[in-house]
Amino acid sequence: MTATMDSRSAAGRGQPASAGQGSADVFVVFGITGDLARVMTFRSLYRLERRGLLQCPIVGVAVDDWTVDQLVERARVSIEGTGEVIDAAVFGRFAARLSYVQGDFGDAATYGRVAEAIKGADSPVFYLEVPPFLFGTVVKGLAGAGLTATGRVVVEKPFGSDRASARALAEELHQYLDESQLYRIDHYLGKMGLEEILYLRFANTMLEPIWNRNYIECVQITMAEDFGVEDRGHFYDPVGALRDVVVNHLMQVVSAAAMEPPSGGDPQTLKDSQVALFRAVSEADPVHYVRGQYEGYRSINGVAADSTTETYAALRLDIDNWRWSGVPFFIRTGKKLPVTQTELRLVFKHPPRLGFNFGSDRRPEPNQIVIKLDPSTGVRLKVEALRADTVGPAAIDLDMEFADEGGEGPTPYEVLLQAAMVGKSTRFTRQDGVEETWRIMQPLLDAPPPVHSYAPGSWGPAAADELTADYVGWHRPWVPA
Ligand code: BG6
Repeated sequence: MTATMDSRSAAGRGQPASAGQGSADVFVVFGITGDLARVMTFRSLYRLERRGLLQCPIVGVAVDDWTVDQLVERARVSIEGTGEVIDAAVFGRFAARLSYVQGDFGDAATYGRVAEAIKGADSPVFYLEVPPFLFGTVVKGLAGAGLTATGRVVVEKPFGSDRASARALAEELHQYLDESQLYRIDHYLGKMGLEEILYLRFANTMLEPIWNRNYIECVQITMAEDFGVEDRGHFYDPVGALRDVVVNHLMQVVSAAAMEPPSGGDPQTLKDSQVALFRAVSEADPVHYVRGQYEGYRSINGVAADSTTETYAALRLDIDNWRWSGVPFFIRTGKKLPVTQTELRLVFKHPPRLGFNFGSDRRPEPNQIVIKLDPSTGVRLKVEALRADTVGPAAIDLDMEFADEGGEGPTPYEVLLQAAMVGKSTRFTRQDGVEETWRIMQPLLDAPPPVHSYAPGSWGPAAADELTADYVGWHRPWVPA
């Protein structure tokens, strides 16, 4: 490894209290020969290299009997496979960082070899691209080799399948790691996410004073996907939409939309504000929960022939605090819907009928603020105006597409891997927040309503329309024209 690392003692042994808090001096990827690395990690690391943000060696660990050359080749093919055009000089710099440790994750000797490979590192970052049932095994192995005293461990969802299992998983990991060392990825926090929405809300005097129950009728969060479960049947069928994206990704959007401003930018303060919001969310009521399954789902490989797993979920949440009491938060997500787009939409109260409507008896429409998060990003203000060029009053859209303003931003995984490397934990979820979101969803897990089938390419089961019937109905997401 690098000269700087060789000259110091092994990570985790006899380090000063502040050790491990700095930027990563080595990035260790467990499961580097797997699918997530192929689809996401190599590309993200390569792009960080291109932007000059990769600063340390990268050690891959996996059970496959590979040489470094094979790893480098896999990296090249994977990056190209994502459509990225490779710059030879950038790739050369990136490839020079790679090394490989072969080993079974259940074998203590593997961690001895990892320790040898990263000898001298003060701030190792271990990225666990392994299934959750192996988190405990790997962390225990790292601890056994004296590698967990400093540094950070990055893990991928799912964090349990309900509140009790989320708690049990954390208890297992906390035997070896302090909560502050655990970086749980919810890749929605790498999108235009929590921090940006908070800034938009609280840095604009035009927005903050009206962002509450005095002005807002309801909030709608839509995560629509036009593709199906495809080859992920084995993973998806025991999970379903609620566990796959609502309890995690969409609850991040709820918190960004609804939390109070944190009084500081440090992770503790920010996450305290987030958890305070989650605590104010009432447990979801199965009466306001609609589940759907698209036609054809049951014939997917890995899906049970009589599966009742939901590929569509629509629900209502209520937040019992001064800002939000009485304002329903409607959430819906589904596979095989007409479009792919995630957005947050605030629908304001209805203005009264106007007496001076200049010949029209049209009632003004409620204003809306839409923040679209993925794949395209932007902000839309829907306002009423009297248009001289049309027949009179009309709703008009004031749109800002972020792509036109700032160009292409970094991908979520670039944002998150870099944040993990520099130790910026605001982009990661904390255990109490994870448990709160499971608490909110638990009644829906305990008493799921029957699943309705829906046609691929439709907006899901008609039953979901009843949820919003008293609140102007669901709004179709804002998608590029
Ligand atoms: C993943 C889910 O966490 O998020 C997938 O497992 C889902 O089912 C995906 O499609 C959506 O993420 P993105 O970034 O493509 O919107």
